[in-house]
Amino acid sequence: MMTSALPYANGQIHIGHVAGAYLPGDIRARFERMAGSDVVWVCGSDEHGAAITLRAKKAQVTPREIVDRYHEEMQQAFEGLDISFDHYSRTSSERHHDVAQNFFLTLLEKGSFEVKTEAQFYDPKAKQFLADRYITGTCPKCQDDGAYGDQCEKCGSALSPTELIDPKSTLSGAKPELKDTTLWYLPMGRHERWLKEYIEKGIFEGQPHHDASAWKAHVSGQCRSWIDSGLQSRAMTRDLDWGVPVPVEGAEGKVLYVWLDAPIGYITSTMEWAEQNDARWQDWWKTDETELIHFIGKDNIVFHCLIFPILLREHGGYILPTNVPANAFMNLEGDKISTSRNWAVWVNDFLQEFPGKSDELRYVLASIMPEQKDSEFTWADYRERVNNELADVLGNFVNRVLVLTRKYYDGNVPAINAADLNNTDHAVLETLSEAPSQIADLVRRNRFRDALQAAMGIARLGNKYMTEQEPWKAYKANPTRAAVILNTCIQVAANCAVLLEPFLPKSAAKLQSAFGIENPTWADAAPDMIQVGSILSELPILFEKVEAEVVDAQVSKLESARAATNVARPEFKPQKDTMTFEDFQKLDLRVGEVIACERVPKADRLLNLTIRSGLDERTVLSGIAEHFAPEDVVGRRVTLLANLAPRKIRGIESQGMILMAETADGSLRFVTPEEGAEAGDVIS
Ligand code: MF3
Ligand code: ZN
Repeated sequence: MMTSALPYANGQIHIGHVAGAYLPGDIRARFERMAGSDVVWVCGSDEHGAAITLRAKKAQVTPREIVDRYHEEMQQAFEGLDISFDHYSRTSSERHHDVAQNFFLTLLEKGSFEVKTEAQFYDPKAKQFLADRYITGTCPKCQDDGAYGDQCEKCGSALSPTELIDPKSTLSGAKPELKDTTLWYLPMGRHERWLKEYIEKGIFEGQPHHDASAWKAHVSGQCRSWIDSGLQSRAMTRDLDWGVPVPVEGAEGKVLYVWLDAPIGYITSTMEWAEQNDARWQDWWKTDETELIHFIGKDNIVFHCLIFPILLREHGGYILPTNVPANAFMNLEGDKISTSRNWAVWVNDFLQEFPGKSDELRYVLASIMPEQKDSEFTWADYRERVNNELADVLGNFVNRVLVLTRKYYDGNVPAINAADLNNTDHAVLETLSEAPSQIADLVRRNRFRDALQAAMGIARLGNKYMTEQEPWKAYKANPTRAAVILNTCIQVAANCAVLLEPFLPKSAAKLQSAFGIENPTWADAAPDMIQVGSILSELPILFEKVEAEVVDAQVSKLESARAATNVARPEFKPQKDTMTFEDFQKLDLRVGEVIACERVPKADRLLNLTIRSGLDERTVLSGIAEHFAPEDVVGRRVTLLANLAPRKIRGIESQGMILMAETADGSLRFVTPEEGAEAGDVIS
């Protein structure tokens, strides 16, 4: 049983998502299918949680509109990249709500939760409790100031809103108030002991469960450090109106925490798959022989290695993950990929701008997959890998093989005599006989970069062998030798057509058809795969080279996205409550002219302005002394609020106020009327 993280249906799929959870899953699933293992790989859209509701609010549409839109768009992206899920579901379906509610009720019956009524952060203006992405603050663990109420994405820590230092509502920016509400908590502390054994030793319920040493060091390391620092209780419900309703009387307005319902989505997705495939879903989730593997990004580790296992064990009857090969993050052109800053390569954009090039992207992403640590995608590197590796090595090699076979043998695989093979030929064939099991072993250990390197190594070997053996020379001088060389090259190329299929499905299919291979299994890869007399067909250019201008244009596109987001200020103050025209008419705004200005003694921030208002010359105190010196102010025309009730400050009566604009960097500008407006002109 394989799963890939259900992506939030709140935005497009970008290369970081692909490299993190979907391409590794796809390579593994394609390999397992070819190797004849019984595998089901599920995914689906994660359609609940603050990620969705906040996005909807920003776009001023309903959450339903958001998830419907992105559910479609994400599926297009996956399809375009040949991500071959056996089933793709969604968590807003009625079916999933049922499954998740029943799961919750079982836990409730088993006493897995602690119900607590406690003061929680609340935004009185938005009339909403603040949890998850509705609240941000400083992470108590790593001090990053962008931590959310449930998690710090910087260091991966699982958090509660009350742990945040200096919490703020993301809705209003306000400091939240406290208000009582009832929540169902998962007391994770109860589970520390068995989790430790499960993660560190691979032992579950006293029995060997999995090979703990096969887990990535950064995954078990993160888990261990959480367990060792003590697992806190986590609320499994939320006061929100979008999600799976808490199936308990009196719990109106409450939904399941998205991280409770989403992983259960794997189970729902499997159920749907089973129904459509005449299978039993329980065979995949409830039998000990089944291996459960979760493909995720590193920010999801705590949920898949600790929380979901607790839920599965508490429910009873379910198997636990045997491996969670989480990937780290992929950066882009020197910066973190960011949806909100539009710093990303979006899969759907790529597919549109590079039609037919999905294998190229898969190749590059698999080559630099962040398996153990963060990695970086650059367009220059994309170009180099496509040109120097796919085109110059793989493409060039198979092309030469096909062209020469056609030229010398009319496309027929030439006959050879075993006795004519020399040591070099044997060495090449020996490599072919070892490659399938070597690559299989790497893929099973989720070492996809190395596996791809090994598979490409076969093409590299073939290319080098052909160049060195020069069949075009042998053909005239020694036809027997030429036949041996080409036959060997054909075997190498055919093996590439099979062994590269998990990585490059489109190109492998083209190669297979050129070499007359149909639906190969992994076991078909062998040194004598192609029989003498088989006829090879033509193959159009497999990989086109990428011009420098093409990737330069992509970099400029990114740069302009960056420029656009820098112009748009991320944190505009929200609009104030509306007022009537009558309210507005109460303001007496006039053009004023500053005729004198001095500092106010012992007040660092205040300037004392004498302003000609048309009606009089009056004194106005303004808190701008940290921004302007008196001599900068004299002679300026300003906007004066003339009828503000006079107020005494530091013994001086201020008769009005001048209007200032605060810029993005926190500095001030005078609101000055256009040339021609004079002191006393009324502003309305
Ligand atoms: N939507 C989550 C994310 O993008 C992943 C959910 S994985 C699941 O980070 F297990 F909850 F399904
Ligand atoms: Zn942190």
